[in-house]
Amino acid sequence: MATGKALYEGKAKIIYATDDPHILLAQYKDDATAYNAQKKGQIMGKGRMNCSIATHLFQKLEASGVATHFIDQPAPDQMRIKAVTIIPLEVVVRNIAAGSLCQQTGLTLGTELPKPLVDFYYKDDALGDPFLSRDRILLLEVATLEQLDWITQSALHINQILMEFFQQCAITLVDFKLEFGLDGQGQILLADEISPDTCRLWNQAETDPDRRVMDKDRFRRDLGEVESAYAQVMERVLAQPVQ
Ligand code: C5P
Repeated sequence: MATGKALYEGKAKIIYATDDPHILLAQYKDDATAYNAQKKGQIMGKGRMNCSIATHLFQKLEASGVATHFIDQPAPDQMRIKAVTIIPLEVVVRNIAAGSLCQQTGLTLGTELPKPLVDFYYKDDALGDPFLSRDRILLLEVATLEQLDWITQSALHINQILMEFFQQCAITLVDFKLEFGLDGQGQILLADEISPDTCRLWNQAETDPDRRVMDKDRFRRDLGEVESAYAQVMERVLAQPVQ
């Protein structure tokens, strides 16, 4: 399949048109950003590692009945995806308190939440991706009430599947971010990526709060050994069956 022009360049991926208007090509990059692109760098091999991890997780979710934009992985750092219109929401599911939840609520890092928390943020770089209430989402017409309820249930279902999957990898799924998109028929598909860039993943073999980190927090917080942490996640994820 021929690759067409670049339609969109994000912080971690470039999206290309293909000769089929319903199919796009996502080129995963080694570039890493944090704090709304105030911190920039590179994680060597991240493009192919995240693309491979996301491929495996999308295949697992598809096998569990979750509709995603994933088609296939024609190259280690490339994913063919269904063309969707992204709903401008970052849907964050949290199982354990970390990151902005601790900063904004005072909860102690590592507190187990009584039930998974679903938080919504407005996907808008200029506004700094602010937290949105359900009423604000409806006010801004980012999604309908029906879509919001569907997305919330889907995010909780995905959390259940991913928590069990990562448990098999001896990794704790602390929290993660999802994005959804609408296809031509108005069906909501899980989109974007699921990778150590978009999840907090803690190594169950480590108790030290810095050493256990296997995700982009290593880059955000200058903890070092970023590449080897991503490689370890990839090795463990790819070792698990998708069925
Ligand atoms: O920053 P915060 O603690 O709210 O992040 C929650 C989760 O969402 C983390 O796993 C983080 O990696 C992910 N996230 C993301 N992209 C963003 C914001 C958060 O992948 N723009």
